[in-house]
Amino acid sequence: MIRSVVRGVGASLPSRLVKNADLAGIVETSDEWIVQRTGIRQRYLASHDETTASLGEAAARAALDHAGLTPADIDLIVLATSTPNNTFPATAVEIQNRLGMHHGFAFDMQAVCSGFVFAVTTADAYLRGGLAKRALVIGAETFSRILDWSDRSTCVLFGDGAGAIVLEAQEGIGTIADRGVLAASLRSDGSHKEKLYVDGGVSTTQTVGHLRMEGREVFKHAVGMITDVIEATFGEAKITADELDWFVPHQANKRIIDASARKLGIADEKVVVTVDQHGNTSAASVPLALSVAVADGRIKKGDLVLLEAMGGGFTWGAVLLRW
Ligand code: UT7
Repeated sequence: MIRSVVRGVGASLPSRLVKNADLAGIVETSDEWIVQRTGIRQRYLASHDETTASLGEAAARAALDHAGLTPADIDLIVLATSTPNNTFPATAVEIQNRLGMHHGFAFDMQAVCSGFVFAVTTADAYLRGGLAKRALVIGAETFSRILDWSDRSTCVLFGDGAGAIVLEAQEGIGTIADRGVLAASLRSDGSHKEKLYVDGGVSTTQTVGHLRMEGREVFKHAVGMITDVIEATFGEAKITADELDWFVPHQANKRIIDASARKLGIADEKVVVTVDQHGNTSAASVPLALSVAVADGRIKKGDLVLLEAMGGGFTWGAVLLRW
């Protein structure tokens, strides 16, 4: 059977590093509060000349280099983002053009913080269905552009950035010994919209709007939803938590990551944490964390890796893959 195997991973961060203490000059907050409640110590924010497309392009080029491939080898681009350069065309198509590609096809996927998990699952279905051979799956965001910089309960939480992987269709034997995507579960429930949304849009206000979040309410649902969808993924693959090599969760809050890992019985040393360095970069958080853990030598070929995310919608999901 066809498996979607990771050939390469890459990332890109904006040039402007903003520490917690820098934010205390903008809103009434402190390094101590942010670290204690979220684990975040710093984030990178886009300058005027940096956009979702430019960050996504840089991450895509890094992933291609890591894979030893060029844009000519790619025939599908799926970009997970909630902060596109324009309402349309899709920012994925802009990235395709920036890469000098005039073949294949590209589109955006909008599942907020779960976007990368949804995009990997989507690209996997296209590869297994024979519609493409090699896909660039990118998560790229500039959430700084939709933050209300007078709202301390949200503006301290997010950062900008991009991460990408190259997935390639390869022949597998159909067991969990195969490399590639092995199992996935996706969920959404629109009844939670008011807990995390942007208060503007094309068809309603004709404005971009600002992010609004009832943080405590999101927190209350997060651990249960995350662990539920991961247990479904373990069930599909017929594995238990102790068979995992690495857990790469969405990086929103260290307390949510710790509570989820504890509930699932995943040892601390198997959990990849980058929220301290990047803040919450929404759809970019999982591929950014992946790229850090591959670059520092933790994630190696053959390792069993679990990706997870939860965010606006609500949307949530998990992907199990062998690196
Ligand atoms: O990626 C999408 C998914 N999103 C998430 O997973 C986010 C989930 N939620 C969270 O991570 C947490 O709920 C937050 C980090 C957003 C907030 O932490 P919390 O422990 O739930 O705090 P809280 O909202 O209950 O606020 C506690 C206090 C409040 O003051 P009072 O009402 O107790 O006097 C807030 O006004 O902290 C205050 N506060 C702040 N203080 C200093 C809120 N923001 C700040 C701030 N600095 N930046």
